[in-house]
Amino acid sequence: MSSRGLLLFIFVTVITVIVTVSESRELIRPFNNTISAVYVFGDSTVDSGNNNYINTVFKANFPPYGTNFANHTPTGRFCDGRLVTDFMTSYVGVKENVPPYLDPTLSLDELMTGVCFASSGTGLDPLTAQLFDGVITVPKQLENFKEYKTNLEASIGKNRTKTLIKKAAFLISIGTNDIAVNYMSTPLRRLTYNITAYLQVLLQQLKQLIEGLREEGAHIIGLVGLPPIGCVPAVITLYSGQPIFGRPCVDTFSNIALDYNNKLQDMLKTLQKPNTILVYADIYQPLNDIVHNPSKYGFEKANVGCCGTGLIEATFLCNSGSVLCSDPSKYVFFDAIHPTEATYRYLFESIRPTMDRFLKKLSQMISVWVPPVTGFVKINVDATLIVESSSSAEDVATIRGLEFGIDKGWRNIILEGDCKAVTEGVLGDNDRSKFHLLGHIFEEIKTLATSLDSCSCSHVFCENNSVAHALANPPSRASELYSGTCTQ
Ligand SMILES: *[C@@H]1O[C@H](CO)[C@@H](O)[C@H](O)[C@H]1NC(C)=O
Ligand SMILES: *[C@@H]1O[C@H](CO)[C@@H](O)[C@H](O)[C@H]1NC(C)=O
Ligand SMILES: *[C@@H]1O[C@H](CO)[C@@H](O)[C@H](O)[C@H]1NC(C)=O
Ligand SMILES: *[C@@H]1O[C@H](CO)[C@@H](O)[C@H](O)[C@H]1NC(C)=O
Repeated sequence: MSSRGLLLFIFVTVITVIVTVSESRELIRPFNNTISAVYVFGDSTVDSGNNNYINTVFKANFPPYGTNFANHTPTGRFCDGRLVTDFMTSYVGVKENVPPYLDPTLSLDELMTGVCFASSGTGLDPLTAQLFDGVITVPKQLENFKEYKTNLEASIGKNRTKTLIKKAAFLISIGTNDIAVNYMSTPLRRLTYNITAYLQVLLQQLKQLIEGLREEGAHIIGLVGLPPIGCVPAVITLYSGQPIFGRPCVDTFSNIALDYNNKLQDMLKTLQKPNTILVYADIYQPLNDIVHNPSKYGFEKANVGCCGTGLIEATFLCNSGSVLCSDPSKYVFFDAIHPTEATYRYLFESIRPTMDRFLKKLSQMISVWVPPVTGFVKINVDATLIVESSSSAEDVATIRGLEFGIDKGWRNIILEGDCKAVTEGVLGDNDRSKFHLLGHIFEEIKTLATSLDSCSCSHVFCENNSVAHALANPPSRASELYSGTCTQ
């Protein structure tokens, strides 16, 4: 070892945990706690009530909306109950529902576990929000998120906010209003853009939202594509030419959605980055199947909404004076535009495999320290060296850790370090380690280990060694044995 005192900063942390076997065998939430918070952006497919707090007529905070929500409360969701985003949030164990950001009564805990910035009636094209009486545009939703972040930093500090946002899921659902209301129902955009060019305009806006969120620290972003817009009851009424009998889906509308979805997926490929998750979930095919085969899913009516005549009513036209169908769960649509909770539940189930896939990837990306089984003590070591390569410091840290454990009288030790050279050296066979520059140190570690009942040594990724790593970095104290106990 260096005699010039360069090898100074050796920190050894001792981490002991007794694991108790978990009694609850709830298997429906395999990725509980992988996600810290959920943030939602978009339109009425995901708005949980922001429009309640702005000056617009496009609201849903009165009956019969919310009739199947907890306590039959109208929340501002355009639905009889919960939205897909609520089901998703509940599935990852964050909380049951995502509240609207503009609700001034939210507790810090509610704010920290995620809020919704979406606004019913809005679109990617800023003109769409104008057509809808000044609802919240996408750039304004992003601005609100920045304001939220600033406030959160003031409450819990910058570092915690950063970590929270890094582990949060950002969900986006938007675009139907741009096509069904703006482009197809008014001449404004059609004068300037053919549909191909218009879809590019929309995707460009979406790209800006994704990039904006990433600039704010988002690592996990999930998007749904567009639904079969031509099968929305109000679109059928207005555009199928058969508003009363027959009521077929309008393929021109749905085909635009399909085209958009394909282009969206192509665009997402160009926006992928290492160590981030950008995931697309398709809702077109599942909803299309539900609409065309309703009885397969237990639905009785798929081309009219449950509220009123079901042909055209939505928002203020669907109100406490409207006749309601006897069982919304038998209807695919609740009003003439928006699905029922029953439909949203199926949509959630259909995107769950996609979620599982990315949550699995995520839990591998953010690997964590794993407690040892009962009867074992896990010693995590890490070291910092100012000048030379740190691997010899890692060796010393490993030896010091082992000595520490032996001193304590522990008989079953699991050593973990994030320095691959050391763990490979210790694990390697004697012949190979003999020729290694640090062979004698590996020998020393092995000799020490023979005095124990059992000792294993393994390499873990830095993330699994974070407590030891944090104690050793930055080097601030002279050669020191640092021990702490971590229970998790
Ligand atoms: C998942 O998280 C929720 C909410 O945090 C909690 O109530 C539930 O017990 C957890 N389930 C499991 C299996 O850990
Ligand atoms: C926040 O993180 C930075 C960099 O990781 C660190 O230097 C700083 O001390 C941290 N601040 C607090 C308050 O923990
Ligand atoms: C749509 O417009 C773009 C230019 O804005 C043009 O290049 C393209 O050929 C047009 N497509 C069709 C199908 O007319
Ligand atoms: C590191 O953490 C991940 C995620 O918790 C876990 O799957 C993996 O087994 C851990 N690795 C070790 C060597 O403990």
